Amino acid sequence: MMEFLCSIMNLKKIVAISDHFPNCASPRKKVVSGFVVGFVSFFVFLFILFSNSSFKNPDSDKLFILRFNNSTCSSSPTAIFIENSTQLEQSPKISAKVTDFKDTHVKNETLSASTMNNKAGEVAIGQEIGNVSVKSDGLDQEHGKIFQMLGNLGSSFEACDIFDGRWVRDDTKPYYPAGSCPYVDKDVNCYLNRRPDDEFVKWRWQPFGCEIPSLNATDFLERLRGKKMVFVGDSLNRNMWESLVCILRHSLKNKTTVYEISGRGDFKKRGIYAFRFEDYNCTVDFVSSPFLVRESSFKGENGSLETLRLDLMDRTTSMYQDADILIFNTGHWWTHEKTSRGENYYQEGNHVYPRLKALDAYTRALSTWAKWVDQNIDNRKTQVIFRGYSLTHFRGGQWNSGGQCHTETEPIFNTSYLTNYPSKMRAFDNVLRVIKTPVIYLNISRLTDYRKDGHPSIYRSKYKSVPLKQQTYAEHSQDCSHWCLPGVPDSWNELLYASLLEVGRGSWKR
Ligand SMILES: *[C@@H]1O[C@H](CO)[C@@H](O)[C@H](O)[C@H]1NC(C)=O
Ligand SMILES: *[C@@H]1O[C@H](CO)[C@@H](O)[C@H](O)[C@H]1NC(C)=O
Ligand SMILES: *[C@@H]1O[C@H](CO)[C@@H](O)[C@H](O)[C@H]1NC(C)=O
Ligand SMILES: *[C@@H]1O[C@H](CO)[C@@H](O)[C@H](O)[C@H]1NC(C)=O
Ligand SMILES: *[C@@H]1O[C@H](CO)[C@@H](O)[C@H](O)[C@H]1NC(C)=O
Ligand SMILES: *[C@@H]1O[C@H](CO)[C@@H](O)[C@H](O)[C@H]1NC(C)=O
Ligand SMILES: *[C@@H]1O[C@H](CO)[C@@H](O)[C@H](O)[C@H]1NC(C)=O
Ligand SMILES: *[C@@H]1O[C@H](CO)[C@@H](O)[C@H](O)[C@H]1NC(C)=O
Ligand SMILES: *[C@@H]1O[C@H](CO)[C@@H](O)[C@H](O)[C@H]1NC(C)=O
Ligand SMILES: *[C@@H]1O[C@H](CO)[C@@H](O)[C@H](O)[C@H]1NC(C)=O
Ligand SMILES: *[C@@H]1O[C@H](CO)[C@@H](O)[C@H](O)[C@H]1NC(C)=O
Repeated sequence: MMEFLCSIMNLKKIVAISDHFPNCASPRKKVVSGFVVGFVSFFVFLFILFSNSSFKNPDSDKLFILRFNNSTCSSSPTAIFIENSTQLEQSPKISAKVTDFKDTHVKNETLSASTMNNKAGEVAIGQEIGNVSVKSDGLDQEHGKIFQMLGNLGSSFEACDIFDGRWVRDDTKPYYPAGSCPYVDKDVNCYLNRRPDDEFVKWRWQPFGCEIPSLNATDFLERLRGKKMVFVGDSLNRNMWESLVCILRHSLKNKTTVYEISGRGDFKKRGIYAFRFEDYNCTVDFVSSPFLVRESSFKGENGSLETLRLDLMDRTTSMYQDADILIFNTGHWWTHEKTSRGENYYQEGNHVYPRLKALDAYTRALSTWAKWVDQNIDNRKTQVIFRGYSLTHFRGGQWNSGGQCHTETEPIFNTSYLTNYPSKMRAFDNVLRVIKTPVIYLNISRLTDYRKDGHPSIYRSKYKSVPLKQQTYAEHSQDCSHWCLPGVPDSWNELLYASLLEVGRGSWKR
């Protein structure tokens, strides 16, 4: 569904190989030279294009390049780590470390002119991706510029899944300095709560097959001019909403031109919160609606029951139906006690199910949501987005039974420790197939799965300053579901920006 074209528009450089091959013949001429590398039978040719001025890292002679095994951008590439690019220019045979992006396997490989399929005259396109750093077991962090081969001009560009990728170090992050944004909830403001490490904010999501633009807050606001954007869902969507408000706010010179309309500073109560960006005449809102469907009650023979109407939307719909951009989510509340037990709780019409599985109920609620969207959303005006399930990282228990994520300071690198795609999201994938309205699906489950280091854990409050008894409590009720801000939800917004640009209607046209 949400696929990101490695589009020509993105290219910083379009290089005609034929222009460069003359230089290749005389390698001593260091101005520009080019090689074409072909691997196995399905190649994808990788064009290593470099020149002294644009390619080499000024600090070292090392560089990374991406190699694709197949012509689809989305097939996982391997990185070739070339220790000495001068050597590559001068010699047809060089040794390189090849790093498997997914499993961080490292092996030595020899690249030689004979494995480089020199198709002189053919026009190829490469994209400078920027600096990369790889941190993995057995490989020190190394920097280098990378050049990515996107395809031949004659052939069509393949789609790339921007949610299939990995985390790479990025020292330009975060988007706003830790502790600088007054709108971050206290219990996810890890910096103010004195979390001692800050490496967890310096990661960027890098899709395997293509590049996503970094979020240009000025551009985002410009495209939002005169519009209303609403996040609807649970506290994880509040997490994402606060992240976006902070990213956008940080770009403003006069920060007093953004404010919550009602003047509230605590965003935890039910209802609607609206941040107005005065200079852009737009609002970025949050509507608390953790199930999307309606919490209700039912008078049965044994008295009144609290129920969840799976067949009706929550009463909040009027607060967001007219928005220009809508970002929904629901997920975490379906794992709580009542919802997961599902006894005398789920209601449709006048029927209360004596027992219904949470996944079943969740699927029904999503169908109700999909029907509502199809019947009530004008898709010429409103772009609908659904954000996927954000993974939790409780070791040795759950959120309410002493589970922990304290002392995690690095993402997961070994993909064998990742979990399966959540069954709730498989249910969502099915709903996506039947909904008629075009929906952008932010498929962030896997990327959150890597980030065991991103949660507030014990730093959901000012841990060190509270009495010992409360410290013990903090250790026993760690937050391993929400995310510290700045942090992981900033990347969701980056992917949201990329997705909106990709779909590109109205003010989002490039
Ligand atoms: C390309 O993919 C095939 C099949 O997945 C694999 O057998 C082969 O080793 C790969 N080649 C390279 C150069 O990675
Ligand atoms: C290469 O890509 C094509 C088309 O996407 C696919 O049919 C084929 O199985 C792929 N081959 C390998 C080795 O991955
Ligand atoms: C890179 O290779 C060139 C040519 O082989 C050599 O002169 C140079 O010393 C090498 N640089 C490093 C850092 O190894
Ligand atoms: C790669 O080559 C270098 C030098 O040739 C050697 O020291 C190293 O052990 C090799 N690594 C692997 C994984 O084979
Ligand atoms: C790439 O990294 C080098 C050294 O870390 C730095 O000097 C350079 O400015 C970086 N370039 C970009 C485009 O980020
Ligand atoms: C961000 O967008 C603004 C407005 O479109 C533009 O002027 C500016 O150059 C962009 N900044 C970057 C770093 O691309
Ligand atoms: C602000 O945006 C609204 C639409 O949301 C529009 O009706 C109004 O005219 C705009 N005001 C200004 C001053 O541009
Ligand atoms: C900042 O914006 C506020 C509210 O619009 C305004 O009252 C104030 O004069 C502005 N300050 C500056 C320095 O522009
Ligand atoms: C009402 O309570 C009785 C006795 O506890 C029980 O047998 C019956 O199933 C209950 N009815 C409902 C609808 O829960
Ligand atoms: C990843 O973890 C698995 C299971 O513990 C292990 O077998 C494998 O060697 C690990 N891979 C790397 C690259 O460390
Ligand atoms: C979402 O990503 C998962 C991998 O994390 C993939 O299995 C699933 O098919 C994706 N869903 C959609 C609709 O793209």
